[in-house]
Amino acid sequence: MGILIRKGEIVTAADRYVADLFVEDGRIVQIGEDLEKRGARDRVIEADGLLVFPGLIDPHVHMELGFMGTVSADDFESGTASGVAGGTTTIIDFCIPARGQSLLDGLREWREKSKKAVADYSFHMAITGWGEKTAEEMRVVVQEHGITSFKVFMAYKGAIMVDDAELYQVMKQAARLGAVVTVHAENGDAVYQLQQQLVAAKKLGPEFHPVSRPSLVEGEATGRALMMARLHGTTAYIVHMTCREAVGALERAKLSGQRCFGETCPQYLLLDDTVFAKPDFEGSAYVMSPPIRPPHVGHHEALWNGLAFGMLDSIGTDHCPFTMAQKRMGQDNFTLIPNGAAGIEDRLQLLYTYGVCEGKFDLNRMIALASTNPAHIFGLYPRKGTIAVGSDADLVLYDPSATGTRSARSHHSKCDRNIFEGFKVKGKPAVVIVNGRVQFEDGTLAVERGAGRFIAREVAKTGHPLPVTPAETGRMG
Ligand code: URP
Ligand code: ZN
Ligand code: ZN
Repeated sequence: MGILIRKGEIVTAADRYVADLFVEDGRIVQIGEDLEKRGARDRVIEADGLLVFPGLIDPHVHMELGFMGTVSADDFESGTASGVAGGTTTIIDFCIPARGQSLLDGLREWREKSKKAVADYSFHMAITGWGEKTAEEMRVVVQEHGITSFKVFMAYKGAIMVDDAELYQVMKQAARLGAVVTVHAENGDAVYQLQQQLVAAKKLGPEFHPVSRPSLVEGEATGRALMMARLHGTTAYIVHMTCREAVGALERAKLSGQRCFGETCPQYLLLDDTVFAKPDFEGSAYVMSPPIRPPHVGHHEALWNGLAFGMLDSIGTDHCPFTMAQKRMGQDNFTLIPNGAAGIEDRLQLLYTYGVCEGKFDLNRMIALASTNPAHIFGLYPRKGTIAVGSDADLVLYDPSATGTRSARSHHSKCDRNIFEGFKVKGKPAVVIVNGRVQFEDGTLAVERGAGRFIAREVAKTGHPLPVTPAETGRMG
């Protein structure tokens, strides 16, 4: 059964125009004026007054992640369903093998738990240590499994953090493979020392979490990661950037001709560090790394301006929810609070309301940041990330006239807290089409467990060719 969407205003990263769209067998098959149904059973959706967006891509989520002694509260089914309700139709999760575990074993685990996803997904492969087999397994992951991006954590010392020698090796091998390296950039040794000092001084509440991870440690690690990438000509993508030091480091790398990308998330744009002082341990709901930053010192401005003017390229969510019961694991010591929060369902309405309606960027840029750019960077384009004949029929029909309030009471995540609780929003996803099927309409989900597909990705072909690097030519001085 096909779907004819009539007279919606189609918005891509480049264009805005009113047209009809016909989708069939999971693909967009026709865009034009006054299109007709093709079969008697085809559905017609009148989209006059609605904006039609390509389904959003969330390049940064953690479903069912075993982390800090517990497991993130959304599995692939509830997490992707929550995404669909918020207009996100494709996710890229992080496969994170334990230190010393084979990448291919880790991948088998992630393939198993992701089978219940209701929308399409891919993985970034995390490298949590370096051993004899790592380089070859990285090749297999890229060339035989279509996982064309990696992840390194420069923080979480004693768990999944890599040291500089390991970071160097990952960047080197990724460059050979043409893969992107995504980076959690914080100086994990400095964070560890600061945490020990605070704990010894009996500074144990969630309000000390940001004290243990100042923006300086993020800025330094961002610069170091970019330097390591530059040595090898690797494409680096810095995840969840929060501060002006980090944006500055990325801007300097870009201006010097390095192919690199930056991501931020709505929480770093819209919240400030006063949240950590909420009474009754409620501040723990906001504990994530890097932390939410203080207001009035330029971090929020650097992020908004970076998004508007091209220093930042992408907006993910870092969806990694933990319930209040899970957060209580760190009741007596903030270093034990599981790091992360929900966000996949909130992103579109927040960006539309506080980005587009507040004049921070226009609709085209919003789509670029939340769909088209992640598709380009991670090798999903043009199958995902745009509205074009032949692309997957992942579409959001957005009603800009609606108003609402974000809340844990109405979101579809299993998390019992919403860090955007009470935020007023303009517009809402009225209909969300995933793979050519209506899966969300009038506030109701109609998703199917297991309908999501693993998407093997290509090594991205976009952007300028990688430069010959000092490490390749021997001109190291
Ligand atoms: O606090 C966070 N961000 N939790 C998820 C893991 C990560 O660092 O992205
Ligand atoms: Zn991270
Ligand atoms: Zn993350």
